[in-house]
Amino acid sequence: MQEVFDRPDPAPGRGEVLVRVLVAGVNPLDHVLRSGPVPGLDGGRPFPRVLGMEAAGVVLALGEGVDGIEVGDAVFGFALTGGGTYAETTVLSAAHTARIPEGLSAVVAATLPVAGTTAVDALDQLDLPAGAAVLVNGVGGGVGLSVARLAAGRGLRVIGTGSAAKREQAEALGVRFLDYTAEDVVAATRALVPDGVDGVVDLVGGSSLRAVAPLARDPRTVISVGDASVSDLGGRFVERRIDRANLERSAQLALDGVLEPVITAVHPLADAPIALAAVESGHASGKVVIEVG
Ligand SMILES: NC(=O)c1ccc[n+]([C@@H]2O[C@H](COP(=O)([O-])OP(=O)(O)OC[C@H]3O[C@@H](n4cnc5c(N)ncnc54)[C@H](OP(=O)(O)O)[C@@H]3O)[C@@H](O)[C@H]2O)c1
Repeated sequence: MQEVFDRPDPAPGRGEVLVRVLVAGVNPLDHVLRSGPVPGLDGGRPFPRVLGMEAAGVVLALGEGVDGIEVGDAVFGFALTGGGTYAETTVLSAAHTARIPEGLSAVVAATLPVAGTTAVDALDQLDLPAGAAVLVNGVGGGVGLSVARLAAGRGLRVIGTGSAAKREQAEALGVRFLDYTAEDVVAATRALVPDGVDGVVDLVGGSSLRAVAPLARDPRTVISVGDASVSDLGGRFVERRIDRANLERSAQLALDGVLEPVITAVHPLADAPIALAAVESGHASGKVVIEVG
C-alpha cells in the first residue's frame, strides 16, 4: 500500500542537511528499494517508509560537520540514509549535495543526482573520441536521453534502442533510433556500423544486454548501468561518482545546455504513486519528477 502520511521533520545527523523539498526525482531504484534490501543501500528499513533518493530544495538546518552549505541555500543531492525525498522535508547527505547554480531550475536540478551524473559517468568511462559510434540501449528513459544528449554534444554518432513512443524524443536529439518492438535491432545496428560500434551504454540489462553486447568491437567498451552481470560478457558496470564535485560539474553541464534532462511528467506529491508506477512500468519516457514545494 502507498499513501501520504504525516511524520515529524527528520533530524539531520552528522554530515547531513535538513531540506524543504521543492522537487523529488523518481527512479527505478525507488521501487526496487520498496521491495526489500539492496546490498550497500538502505533498503532494509522498516515500513512505513518514505521513498525517493534525490531532491532539490532549500536548506532548513545543518547537522554537525557540514561544510560549504548554509541554511537558506538552494541545493540538490542524494538522500542516502533512508529519509526519502517524496516528502515535504528530508535529510540529504552534505557530501553528496551541492548548491543549485543561478539560472538552473529546481526541476532540472532534482534530476541530476541519479540520471544526470550517471550519464556523465558512463560516457566518461567510455571516453570515446568525436566521430565514434555509441549504441545506447534503452535510450528513451531518464538516463538514456541524458546519455544521448551528452554523447551528441561530444560529437559521437548515437544509435539508440527503444519502443515506438520514444522515437520522436530520441530523434530530436539526433539519435539514429531503432524500435526494438518492430525490428531486429542487432541486425539494424550491424547494417549501420558493419564493423561494430565503439561503445555501448546499456540501460536495460538481461537478455537485451546479452543481445547487443556483441555489437561492440571491444567487449570492454560495453558499460551497463543496471546489470552487474555485464562483467560476464567482458564489459564493465558503470563507475559512479556521486560526490559534490561531480554534482557541480553536472549542474554546469546542464547550465551549458549540454546535459539537458528531458522531463516528461511533473506530478504533485499526492500523485507520488502515479509517478512511481510510471517508472515501475519499465517503459518510462525521460524523467518523471514530483513537485512538492
Ligand atoms: N548504477 C547506478 O548508479 C544507476 C543510476 C541510474 C539508473 N540505474 C539503472 O539503470 C537502468 C535505467 O535507468 P533509467 O532511470 O533510465 O530507467 P527508466 O527511466 O525506467 O528507462 C528505462 C528505459 O528502457 C526502455 N526499455 C525497456 N526495455 C527495453 C528494451 N528491451 N530495449 C530497449 N529499451 C528498453 C524503456 O522504455 P521502452 O521499452 O518503452 O523504450 C525505458 O524508456 C535502471 O535499471 C536503473 O536502476 C543505475
